[in-house]
Amino acid sequence: MNTQPIGFIDSGVGGLTVVKEARRQLPNENIIFLGDQARLPYGPRPAAQVRAFTWQMVNFLLRQHIKMLVVACNTATGAALSDLKAKLSIPVVGVIVPGARAAIRATHTRHVGVIATVGTVRSDAYAQAMHQKATDIQVTSLAAPKLVPLVESNEMHSAVAKRVVAETLRPLQHTDIDTLVMGCTHYPLLKPLIQNVMGDDVTLIDSGVQTVSEVSMLLDYFGIAAAPGQTSNAQFYTTGAAKLFNVIASDWLGLAVAAKHVDITD
Ligand code: SIN
Repeated sequence: MNTQPIGFIDSGVGGLTVVKEARRQLPNENIIFLGDQARLPYGPRPAAQVRAFTWQMVNFLLRQHIKMLVVACNTATGAALSDLKAKLSIPVVGVIVPGARAAIRATHTRHVGVIATVGTVRSDAYAQAMHQKATDIQVTSLAAPKLVPLVESNEMHSAVAKRVVAETLRPLQHTDIDTLVMGCTHYPLLKPLIQNVMGDDVTLIDSGVQTVSEVSMLLDYFGIAAAPGQTSNAQFYTTGAAKLFNVIASDWLGLAVAAKHVDITD
């Protein structure tokens, strides 16, 4: 049994959607989360820069002795996962393949929509992941760069958010897409608005939920799960302002979050 924490990284608060699921599925596990809010959004940045920033986050978490790394950011997964997997000696899990797997499972029309950041759409990572398993799936990807700022400014419940989500998703309406991947970990915080626009017949895929199921399996596979009944804790770090982070995180996770500010640019 292993009490070392699992490390989660994201460009901002989006990764908390994965942390929430981890606390639900893996309540015995210690968790450390780092959001790089000082440099977000990652979506419009070149892949090489996202990779460099991701390594800075990872190096911070390695110094906290994490036993497993979860890249809870689609843009960072697309840009850095293969590099991280090749160079790290701990298990590394990204959010794209689990989300792709869930979409294949869910679709009946075999037409899947993906909404994601510009970087994730440009990487074509979701379509590639789905086509590796099922070549018959038609994938329609749509960049949705206006959604992350809504979440980071805690405007998820505003009239502006409702309008922006409706305008963003318009190209996907009235198609035969029956499954829509929320290909950015920020988007599940907008799930009610997204579902409302797409209608109840479209299944929304939250990659984070699927990712944590894979984390759970890997903990067992590598024999590094925490002991049953262990009292766990969650620590939160941000490179940005802790105050707004704490408001969003406390509300989303339903616990009093007191994040620490860190500088990871060495
Ligand atoms: C962003 O920083 O642009 C969003 C991160 C993501 O892709 O999940």
